[in-house]
Amino acid sequence: MNVLICGGAGYIGSHMAQYLAEAGHVVTVLDNLSTGHHEAVRWGELLEVNLLDAEGLERVLQGRRFDAVMHFAARSLVGESVSHPYSYYSNNVTGTLNLLEAMRRADVERIVFSSTAAIFGNPQSDVIDEAHPKAPINPYGASKLMAERFLADAAQAYGLRSVALRYFNAAGALPGHGIGEAHACETHLIPNVLRAALGQGPSLKIFGNDYDTADGTCVRDYVHVQDLARAHALALEFMDRNEGAHTFNLGNGQGFSVHDVIATAASVAGVAIPYEVAPRRAGDPARLVASSAKAREQLGWQPRWTELAPIIESAWHWHRDQPSWSPHHRQTGHPTQAA
Ligand SMILES: NC(=O)c1ccc[n+]([C@@H]2O[C@H](COP(=O)([O-])OP(=O)(O)OC[C@H]3O[C@@H](n4cnc5c(N)ncnc54)[C@H](O)[C@@H]3O)[C@@H](O)[C@H]2O)c1
Repeated sequence: MNVLICGGAGYIGSHMAQYLAEAGHVVTVLDNLSTGHHEAVRWGELLEVNLLDAEGLERVLQGRRFDAVMHFAARSLVGESVSHPYSYYSNNVTGTLNLLEAMRRADVERIVFSSTAAIFGNPQSDVIDEAHPKAPINPYGASKLMAERFLADAAQAYGLRSVALRYFNAAGALPGHGIGEAHACETHLIPNVLRAALGQGPSLKIFGNDYDTADGTCVRDYVHVQDLARAHALALEFMDRNEGAHTFNLGNGQGFSVHDVIATAASVAGVAIPYEVAPRRAGDPARLVASSAKAREQLGWQPRWTELAPIIESAWHWHRDQPSWSPHHRQTGHPTQAA
């Protein structure tokens, strides 16, 4: 297949490009490099285009024939979305609308969309399935839920086939392929714990150790980036068999606490990782764990990376040996946060 990967210079999109190229597909990456990296585009051509540039998108979609689009391109920092909501709605909502319109005009009828656990808001059950109420508590989550709505409406109006995959916490890397999690502003726990293990950044903070969980720290569901890539490939096959707009939650199905992550990372890195306990942060639920039963039944997807240690080990190789283009290469002084 000929697949356009929007946001393919970013963390998950670059792993997707590797996965599809290795499976024999032709990959083209569209990215404005706002948080992604030119050097992460190692499979396929890079087209430097902003989703907000409707004419540029039109030229790309009219210029060659794509069988499907994978849409990873978004801004995705929750805190930033609260302080800059307009730019989040503009980038994530208007950008998605521009992409869908350019697809419609070019008769591209399939899209896999990166959605998120943030569309659910505060969890009302221990394990979150697709039927869980959708009540995002920040503009980032709201922008993704709006995009899901566009996909449902486009299925009705134009016959667009879509799969929205709601990832919980993406983690890990593909050692030996020169790509990994390379966010200049890193808010995710595993990379920040590994940076602390490398002596980078200020001390690691655990935000709250008095939650109603086994060890008092927040529990999250870490799904390996390669498992995510495989789910996208299965979604392409699923759209061959199924019309309409579909949504799936993707997680490992197991929760791991902040303490679990720090202890496992310490054992993988072979060093003690210092941390301090800070007050809880507003909006951090005690537990966020996905039910991926629907993805298992309908996509035939099951995570292969179910244990925490190999997930962290794959990320550790990336963080320890990062290439010079990575923003964390020899970088110190970025805020380091846990949970
Ligand atoms: N990383 C996670 O744990 C996680 C969890 C849930 C959902 N997601 C979603 O998955 C997707 C990928 O996440 P990631 O961690 O790889 O992020 P990332 O920031 O590494 O990648 C996003 C890519 O999109 C590009 N981009 C952003 N806005 C663009 C625009 N207007 N035009 C063109 N390109 C643009 C960026 O330059 C970057 O290369 C995002 O949509 C994110 O919301 C990620």
